[in-house]
Amino acid sequence: MTDGYGREIDYLRISLTDKCNLRCSYCMPREGIRHIEHKDILTLEETGRLAHIMSELGINRVRLTGGEPLVRRGVTDLIRILRAECGLNEISMTSNGLLLAECAGELYDAGLTDINISLDTLREECFSYITGYDGRGLKCVLDGIDSAIEAGLRIKLNCVLMKGINEEDIIPLTEYAADKEVRIRFIELMPIGCAGRFERISTDDLIGRLEEKYGLPTPVPDSMKAYDKGPAEYYTFQEYSGQIGFISPISHKFCDSCRRVRLTAEGFLKLCLQYPDGVDLKTPMRSGVKDEELKKLMIDAVRGKPAAHSFDTSRGNTDKRRMVEIGG
Ligand code: 5AD
Ligand code: SF4
Repeated sequence: MTDGYGREIDYLRISLTDKCNLRCSYCMPREGIRHIEHKDILTLEETGRLAHIMSELGINRVRLTGGEPLVRRGVTDLIRILRAECGLNEISMTSNGLLLAECAGELYDAGLTDINISLDTLREECFSYITGYDGRGLKCVLDGIDSAIEAGLRIKLNCVLMKGINEEDIIPLTEYAADKEVRIRFIELMPIGCAGRFERISTDDLIGRLEEKYGLPTPVPDSMKAYDKGPAEYYTFQEYSGQIGFISPISHKFCDSCRRVRLTAEGFLKLCLQYPDGVDLKTPMRSGVKDEELKKLMIDAVRGKPAAHSFDTSRGNTDKRRMVEIGG
């Protein structure tokens, strides 16, 4: 599929649920959100059908998100369906890692190839502060990372920095990533939903801080980004053994090279993280339309994909959905 600006769309993010077992303060309000009713959530078969149709339209990579995708029952079955029916090059997941220790091997066996795990801090008390989770949540996540490495999944760590909250974790996190030989990517906080009350640390500021510790930064050319086709830019540093990634939706917009669309848990094909534009696929699907008609709806919708997000100068029509409902 090609959108109205000539961008080839080949990457689909599927949100499997709006439920999450954490309450990260930049993502979800402490009191939680009103959840989508069960009947309004696509069944695994419905999700598989839409993904299959989209694979015929050129989608070749799928990422499962949430909320937290691992709280959705049957997620491994869905991975099997996707693998069997969609001829995908890559099936990945974005997870908070809390439940990963128990199921990493099973996910890999079902056909998952990649997993991005959120890791904002290495201090248990800060983890509780950010996520609202009582108990040893960080320990579970770190065990999950070890299990994922052992299972053979390709791993990236995602870290969202907030001024005054997890700044002191920057170096411990990069050290941890080097030690585990996994990549870490720092994502600039986007002012969506409840994230507005925190102050982001810009990529330029962060690179400066890393330079103080690790010496001269050198950007990694796109051709060397290996298996990360996403919006992250990678740098090496003189005295750091791996590559460090930066996702800068605010300070370095990457919309020109956007290849993605999103399917929400309710079956809405959403075209841009920021705007509500898109098309409902569930209603026509449940009313019995044929694949060909769904294809037409998808192609027409994709043509209307917005040119770019603009969180800085918001047009004022930002989607009311929260991050936990979109899946990042
Ligand atoms: N800004 C940037 N990243 C966010 N995430 C959740 N909310 C925001 C936000 N407002 C991240 C999570 C996770 C991924 C799905 O998105 O930390 O890594
Ligand atoms: Fe859950 Fe991820 Fe949102 Fe945290 S950021 S509340 S783990 S969906």
